[in-house]
Amino acid sequence: MLEVKEIRKTYRKPGLMTTKRKLVLDNVSFDMSKGECLGIIGESGSGKSTLGRMILGVEKPDSGCVLFKGNDVQKKSARKGMVSAVFQDYTSSISPSRTVSQAIEEPLKLVGADYDERVIYDLLDRVGLESKIAGRYQHELSGGQAQRVCIARAVATKPEFILLDEAISSLDVSIQVQVLDLLKELKEEMSISYLFITHDIQAAAYICNRLIIFKEGRIVEKTDISDIGKVNDEYSKKLFNSVITV
Ligand SMILES: Nc1ncnc2c1ncn2[C@@H]1O[C@H](COP(=O)(O)OP(=O)(O)O)[C@@H](O)[C@H]1O
Ligand SMILES: [Mg+2]
Repeated sequence: MLEVKEIRKTYRKPGLMTTKRKLVLDNVSFDMSKGECLGIIGESGSGKSTLGRMILGVEKPDSGCVLFKGNDVQKKSARKGMVSAVFQDYTSSISPSRTVSQAIEEPLKLVGADYDERVIYDLLDRVGLESKIAGRYQHELSGGQAQRVCIARAVATKPEFILLDEAISSLDVSIQVQVLDLLKELKEEMSISYLFITHDIQAAAYICNRLIIFKEGRIVEKTDISDIGKVNDEYSKKLFNSVITV
C-alpha cells in the first residue's frame, strides 16, 4: 500500500555564509501493507518528522519517492481523503477560532463529503467524547479531549492510512494508554493502517505489529514485534531490552 523508496533529504546548515548541507534522511526504504501498524522509533532529531513530511507529500525529497497505492504522493490526487495525520501539538492542530464541530467539518468539506451534524456526533462518539463538546473551543478542552478531537478529524474522511507523529507524547501517561486503546479500536473498526512515529519504544510496542529503528536518518533495524528478542543491531538491542524487562 505504501512504498518508501530510497529517500534522501538534506537541509541547508544554518548560517548566512554556508552552502554546506546536512544529510537528514539517508537512503530510507520500506514498505507497508494494508491494515498494518508500523512503528518508526528514533531519538529526537533523528529525522522522523522529516520522513513523515515526505510520506504526507507536503515536502519533496532530494531523491527517491513515496508511492501510495502505486501513485506518487507528490500528486495531491494520490492521497486526497485517503491519507491523514495526527501530530503532537494538538493545540496548534485545532484553530482557536473554530469550535470542535467546525474543526471536524474541515476535512469533510475539503473532500466535498456529504454530511450533517449526526456525522459529527457519531465521530465524537467514536473517540469517546460527548456531543455537548461540539460547540466548545480548543481552550475549553483538556489535552486528552483535544487530541481525541484531532483523531476524530483524522478519521472523518475514512482514510486508509494515518500518520501519527508523536501523537500521544504530550499527554499524561494515564491518558496515553486510553488514546492508544482508542487508536487500536478504530484501527479494527475501520481497517486503517497506522504509521506510528515516536521516541517512545513502550508506546510503539503496545500498538504496533512491526517496528523500524531509526538512527541519524538511517534505518538500523526492521523487526516484527514478535521477534524483538532476535535483533542484531546493538542500539536496537538496548532499546528492546528496556521493553522486555518491564
Ligand atoms: N525545515 C528544516 N530546515 C532545516 N533543518 C531541518 C528542517 N527540518 C528538520 N531539520 C533538521 O533535521 C533534523 C531532523 O529533524 P526532525 O525530522 O524534526 O527529527 P525528529 O522528528 O526525529 O525529532 C534535525 O537536525 C533538524 O534540525
Ligand atoms: Mg519529530
